Amino acid sequence: MGKLDDRTAMVTGSARGIGRAIAERLASEGANLALVDVIEDALTESASACEAAGAKTVKTYTVDVTDADAVQALVKSVTSDFGGLDILVNNAGITRDNLLMRTKDDEWDAVLSVNLRGAFLLIRAATRPLMKSKNGRLVNIASVIGITGNAGQSNYAASKGGLIALTKSVAKEFASRKITANAIAPGLIATDMTKDLGEDVTADIMKRIPLGRYGQPEEIANAVAFFASDDAAYITGQVLVVDGGMVM
Ligand code: NAI
Repeated sequence: MGKLDDRTAMVTGSARGIGRAIAERLASEGANLALVDVIEDALTESASACEAAGAKTVKTYTVDVTDADAVQALVKSVTSDFGGLDILVNNAGITRDNLLMRTKDDEWDAVLSVNLRGAFLLIRAATRPLMKSKNGRLVNIASVIGITGNAGQSNYAASKGGLIALTKSVAKEFASRKITANAIAPGLIATDMTKDLGEDVTADIMKRIPLGRYGQPEEIANAVAFFASDDAAYITGQVLVVDGGMVM
């Protein structure tokens, strides 16, 4: 018996990194998985990993979360393929780091578009099916940068701060329908997103992490599995920081 037996979870950005770890973890709890990403090949590998982890049904959808029509069609397909939707995890995210005065319009727009608008489009499209679920759950993957800000990451910080505010607003709107909405704010996690930071930057960040190491994608997935489960039924509108103690 898993904690999420027979529930359907949709995870965006699940071809690799944190999203893939989330998908595998939810699969190991018995959930069926709708995997969404723009990288088709890696998505297929994720699907095999979810099946190996215990998911009965896994389907992949190659969709760009910034495309409103495609997102609408995605949710329609998922609800028809699985007979409903119980858990939405907005994890797809990108960085285009630059000092603010050098930030180009397209760097600003791309980050806000994937990290914030993408989440909005998914939530809007999924609202009805989540309302129909007995256990509707929304989990947004934000970042500690959305809480503290960071030099050279204004666009990313704005997107993740916005995502936190979006989470809290939606938690209030959805509460009467028994849907919970929470955010997770990861610190420095070992994925493709952080592998090219450079030794100096990494050493500097490491000094600010009391636990003294990178987090692993699975450690974010654990928090998502908690929010998605019945154990977290009375928690909504919260931001759980998972960062080795960086932000206290
Ligand atoms: P990653 O770059 O390894 O994975 C991100 C995934 O999102 C990729 O598979 C990518 O193809 C997908 N994606 C990007 N744009 C998309 C779009 N328009 N439509 C659909 N899918 C798209 O990154 P990582 O590290 O796994 O990050 C996952 C989430 O966690 C992101 O939201 C990121 O901002 C957040 N995060 C990561 C941290 C880290 O240290 N790695 C720290 C804090 C937050």
